Amino acid sequence: MDVTDLDTSDPDARRRWYDAQERAIRADRPHALLEAYGAWELQATQPSEHADRQWLEVRDGDEVLGTASLELPLSENLDVAWVEVNVVAGHRRRGLGRALWDELAARATAAGRSRMGGEATVVPDGPDAARGFSAAVGAVEKHREDHLLADLPLPAAGVDPAYEVVAWRGRCPDEHRAAYLAMRNQMNADVPVGDLDLEAAVLDDARLATSEERLMRSYDVRVAAARRRSDGAWGGYSLLFVPHGADHAWQDDTLVMPEHRGHRLGAALKSASYAGLPADVSLVHTWTAPSNTAMHRTNTAMGFRVVEHMYEVEAAVGPSIA
Ligand SMILES: CC(C)(COP(=O)(O)OP(=O)(O)OC[C@H]1O[C@@H](n2cnc3c(N)ncnc32)[C@H](O)[C@@H]1OP(=O)(O)O)[C@@H](O)C(=O)NCCC(=O)NCCS
Repeated sequence: MDVTDLDTSDPDARRRWYDAQERAIRADRPHALLEAYGAWELQATQPSEHADRQWLEVRDGDEVLGTASLELPLSENLDVAWVEVNVVAGHRRRGLGRALWDELAARATAAGRSRMGGEATVVPDGPDAARGFSAAVGAVEKHREDHLLADLPLPAAGVDPAYEVVAWRGRCPDEHRAAYLAMRNQMNADVPVGDLDLEAAVLDDARLATSEERLMRSYDVRVAAARRRSDGAWGGYSLLFVPHGADHAWQDDTLVMPEHRGHRLGAALKSASYAGLPADVSLVHTWTAPSNTAMHRTNTAMGFRVVEHMYEVEAAVGPSIA
């Protein structure tokens, strides 16, 4: 039961690793949103300056039985290692998950990290392996978000007439970049994270441009923002990703700036993004903390339903941890 590195230079090995991970996840979570193969492959083959990423596996010959990934952030949260472990359903409860975890912990420690963070996602009233395992390896729950799904089309939500919607796809146009960056950084500072003690990434123009270029290779990136007609002040934005060729979209950030709250801009911006989607995109995924009452209510009122509970978990690691 050796844990080895995935040979990321071998296309067949990459495919086998990805397929095993997908099978392992789908066994417990029919509504899981998985990163598309192309997007994952880009990460596996083209290193980022903001994170050191490693992929591990347990194999029996060419058959991949378990997978794990390690992400060491390099620009902020330098004490954290992000991890994920998946074991194919017929090979569980034989210690593979723990073996992968132990290797992740050894690497996190060697990289000077003091905590490992990950996600344990479960279907409400469904199998609870994720939480059982994370408790067994000493991880504690720090924050919960709900994963919600909606079928498209949704009834349109109008925009308060005091505002206009400014929308773009792909790279943010130059004339809006300063305002967009200010809102993105406000979002990173404002989003509720429960007991997670994390440093928000600060975007500058160069980092935004790099992220836009990487994301556009795998996704149709759509942004809808609201601007107040009277003074041009920006009230918020909503960021949506559609993996190339997919039948679903993935709703990322939606922010309404503090002084613009109370105008139902969140629903209006989401609705504006969905209205422009091609007809074959029939599902939207999103995540919201149940404690974020305003956004949770906005989502359920629009027609989203909760399909999964995602627990963000964290374990201490390091030379002093036995
Ligand atoms: C969670 C998962 C990785 C565990 O893999 P595994 O190879 O079965 O794990 P191990 O055999 O090493 O189990 C280690 C311990 O975790 C706990 N555990 C594992 N599965 C469990 C379950 N279904 N219910 C309760 N506890 C469980 C047990 O304490 C177990 O020790 P034991 O078998 O001696 O009782 C696997 O079930 C999986 O891939 N699930 C889907 C993806 C996922 O949830 N990943 C984890 C996110 S943190």
